[in-house]
Amino acid sequence: MRSHHCNEIRSSHIGTEVTLIGWVNTVRDQGGVIFLDLRDREGITQCVFRSEISPESAELSHKLRSEDVIQVTGKVGERLKTAEVDTTNANLETGEVEIVVEKLKIVNKAEVLPFQLDKELSNEDLRLKYRYLDLRRPRMTRNIKLRHRVAKATRDFLDDQDFLEIETPILSKSTPEGARDFLVPSRVHPKSFYALPQAPQQYKQLLMVGGIEKYFQIARCFRDEDLRADRQPEFTQVDVEASFVDQDDIIGLVEGLLGRVFKESLGKDIPVSFDRLSYQDAMNTYGSDKPDRRFDMRFADLTEELKDCEFRVFSGTVASGGVIKAINAKGFADISAGQIDKLTKLAQEAGAKGLAYIQARDTDRSTWRSPFVKRMTDEEVEALREKLNIEAGDLILFAADKWDSACEVLGRVRLAVAEQLNILEGNEELNFLWVTDFPLLAFDEESNKWNAVHHPFTRPHPEDEAKLRAGELEGLRAIAYDVILNGYELGGGSIRIHERDLQMAMFDALSVTQEEQETLFAHILEAFQYGAPPHGGVALGLDRVAMLVAGEKSIREVIAFPKNNKASDLMTSSPAEVDFKQLRELRIQSTVKEKPSGQ
Ligand code: AMO
Ligand code: AMP
Repeated sequence: MRSHHCNEIRSSHIGTEVTLIGWVNTVRDQGGVIFLDLRDREGITQCVFRSEISPESAELSHKLRSEDVIQVTGKVGERLKTAEVDTTNANLETGEVEIVVEKLKIVNKAEVLPFQLDKELSNEDLRLKYRYLDLRRPRMTRNIKLRHRVAKATRDFLDDQDFLEIETPILSKSTPEGARDFLVPSRVHPKSFYALPQAPQQYKQLLMVGGIEKYFQIARCFRDEDLRADRQPEFTQVDVEASFVDQDDIIGLVEGLLGRVFKESLGKDIPVSFDRLSYQDAMNTYGSDKPDRRFDMRFADLTEELKDCEFRVFSGTVASGGVIKAINAKGFADISAGQIDKLTKLAQEAGAKGLAYIQARDTDRSTWRSPFVKRMTDEEVEALREKLNIEAGDLILFAADKWDSACEVLGRVRLAVAEQLNILEGNEELNFLWVTDFPLLAFDEESNKWNAVHHPFTRPHPEDEAKLRAGELEGLRAIAYDVILNGYELGGGSIRIHERDLQMAMFDALSVTQEEQETLFAHILEAFQYGAPPHGGVALGLDRVAMLVAGEKSIREVIAFPKNNKASDLMTSSPAEVDFKQLRELRIQSTVKEKPSGQ
């Protein structure tokens, strides 16, 4: 239906006959002559309808509206460019030419669209309801193309490294990744359910037992969890597993993979290896296990210096075993009372009792505004000055609490301050980081039991294996790693347990009963009896990688048909009620009444 696409014709084509097909992007009537921009996936070409060339086409062209699908045939003409007039368009790659139309065919008329495609639309729900129109916008076309590039580079890279792409079941058994499962009732086995995979974790490990050695999959994953800008109920992972590898092998592989992805999607070179930070250091300095290190604002620890401070919040916290952490928000001393209240509220939502602050208007302490600075000795003030490098105009924010809460609270405040100060405006850096040495287990006060920090298949540090077997669970370390980009967790993985007895010890630690081990995990425990190779792996969130490649702030911008933040697909109105008969077949009680027969 076409000889060229709409971003192909250049000056070298002038005088040749071409046929284009696409959507009417814009129509302009200039003194009775219609000029229009014809658009397809690749770009835009200007078409002009002159009655001296084709009276029928020129007449028909007056009927055209935006988004009609048309086919045009004509000669490529040169756009006028003289000292007096310049009709070329430097913003278009086809801006030096136009098609002088000899034949116009209206292929399909379009109704007036619910929104204009050439304007940014803030109503995301409207965009999602008409996603098929939203996708026509150049920004979305670009994002979808970039996502394809990311997936293609991933496949090419892993293929080069001898990884085999293998599909694993979607109708599967619940894997304990930590979120709620989506369940699918079985008709053949009434009252039994499949679970949609939260990740192919156990399958990929079983592939290693199966001797596959190097596996990958661009895998759909399903998690019934609360949604955020970087979370969807169904999402895609680049899922990888390999046998006979250690942590450095997986880290090197992911660095190579991301290098290829950024090179092939954006033409950008990224570092060949990324910094590494232990979980402990990440929390202690940035208050996050996925620190954004594009800006510094590190924590200073003032526990020792302020342990005797007359201000009870500080001395009391230290006396009860807590710590005092502080950040210097440079140049933010003139923060308003309202802004302080907002930050304090944020800290309280994160579990803090308050947010102590000093507005250091000038260098002399007499100019400092703070609810407690008058109760500090000169030595204490000097210690602050030195550790936090306080200069005129700085704002100092403090968290005093148990180590983990103090770090977590101040970590969130750090990010909020960076946002309020617009520190990252225009920053194009790609800041990659590995966070390593995660704890193996975390104690959950509510359920009064230990949970896996990563998942139950993660291997303890060799020095901690004996402790796990002995049931000494405090302070165990894992061989687990996360890869971070600009404060987003791109992916995570671990070296796995491959011995049946160690896996059982892990389940015991997690209070998985003998019976549950036999019913829920029989397959993996059994598999480990038959010569399971040492193995490990990683999974990257493909949506998050594509989001950061595209420079977007939400993964919805790089997913063709995402759910909204209430987990609904507004385009197809799903989820939806189903027919009574469908439920009866599945032996599921319905809240929907059966229609009386004969209607
Ligand atoms: P994990 O649960 O850390 O590990 O997931 C790996 C990566 O998947 C992405 N991700 C998500 N992306 C969008 N929406 C979601 N709801 C969502 N949840 C996770 C993140 C995350 O880093 N089986 C293990 C991996 C392994 O051990 O090999 C796993 O799934 O980018
Ligand atoms: P108060 O003495 O309770 O009026 O608190 C004085 C200041 O200390 C206020 O700015 C509080 O927000 C702050 N504050 C109270 N508890 C803490 C804490 N645990 N960590 C940091 N700041 C706190």
